[in-house]
Amino acid sequence: MPIKPPDSSAQPDATREVLNVLQGCHDLELVAAQIYQRFAETHKDIPDIAALWRKTAAEEDSHAQQIAFAMRMRKDLVVGTKSDRIKVFEILAFARAVLIEVTAKPLSVVDALKKAIELETRFQTFHLDEVAVFADEGQRQLFRAMQAADRAHVSALEKALARFEGC
Ligand SMILES: [Fe+2]
Ligand SMILES: [Fe+2]
Repeated sequence: MPIKPPDSSAQPDATREVLNVLQGCHDLELVAAQIYQRFAETHKDIPDIAALWRKTAAEEDSHAQQIAFAMRMRKDLVVGTKSDRIKVFEILAFARAVLIEVTAKPLSVVDALKKAIELETRFQTFHLDEVAVFADEGQRQLFRAMQAADRAHVSALEKALARFEGC
């Protein structure tokens, strides 16, 4: 049963702002997961690439769940720095456009890998740990671990791209 993020409309302003941005991060992880599921479907005849897409999609789904969980635990949530907050919505718009594009026209392995690297790299310019300052060390570590997982996505995708471009 997926964890639903809480409704932010009934919160005080500062908390609402943080919850809105976290909602944006949550949605971005879900859209990324959908993009990778789409790629897994498109490249289902290339087992190692399909497996890479499925693994990455599952991890993005798990990130969305973790963010939803953090939003539910909002008693530990303190307002973070303002820098970068707007970025998540720009990246979310980009990700949604990519999802529409790859749904309309399936991409080759090389193009899909390049698109995924672009998305992951854009997401890395946004610092999840600056959106919200968690009073709780466990929550802080959770967000750091998610960022580390996304850095690992870029290197796995780049490795796959180097292999396929060499073909
Ligand atoms: Fe992620
Ligand atoms: Fe990622």
